[in-house]
Amino acid sequence: MTINNIPVIAIDGPSASGKGTVARLVSEALGFYYLDSGVLYRLIALEAIQAKIDLNDEESLENIAIHLDTKFSKRGVTLRNKDVTGIVRHETYGNAASKVAQHSRLREALINRQRAFRKSPGLVADGRDMCSVVFPDATLKIFLTASVEIRAKRRYKQLMEKGEDVNITMILKDIKDRDTRDSVRSVAPLKQDRGSNLIDTTFMDVTEVVNKILDHYSEISVKSI
Ligand code: DC
Repeated sequence: MTINNIPVIAIDGPSASGKGTVARLVSEALGFYYLDSGVLYRLIALEAIQAKIDLNDEESLENIAIHLDTKFSKRGVTLRNKDVTGIVRHETYGNAASKVAQHSRLREALINRQRAFRKSPGLVADGRDMCSVVFPDATLKIFLTASVEIRAKRRYKQLMEKGEDVNITMILKDIKDRDTRDSVRSVAPLKQDRGSNLIDTTFMDVTEVVNKILDHYSEISVKSI
């Protein structure tokens, strides 16, 4: 099987649309690998903040992206051999990730690293530009979204459960700011790619969304036999 024949399910969508949970469950159901591309941007943000690098300093950020010393496993993610699975999920790094993600040279430096996750028997990848830039030949493309209010409520519940001190008004504002930044940037902006299937999860639960994606995928698999 050549690399281009290895199936990819590409899932894009705005912050807190539930992409991560859904993509992981779809990958488990199919026995596929899973790429959470947002973590790469979060890791760069974490490394930049720790090294006191300005989030507008494109050259230094590109350098971090090129030399990013990270390992992904079922247990989580490491940065220079240190487990950072929990810390990268903090809102601070999500917001900073959305800022560093605006730089084209940094994005370019991450492309091959992301494509290397495409391994047999298949990959489920989630992010903002999986359908348009990283895996334009994906077998199935999904654009997952939900109303901004529902996304804020879901994120609030998730952070409360983790014991974080959170405020729904601030979360709503952060999500709106990230939506704007991720959608208006000139390079690889968040938008529904042509050929991708829109799923609005506002009134759906996780199982329904996962089953819908699996149904789409089995339709494609049947057609290609
Ligand atoms: O999916 P996430 O919340 O972990 O992503 C954090 C930020 O990283 C997001 O606000 C924008 C950026 N990002 C991106 O630009 N492209 C991707 N493929 C994934 C994330």
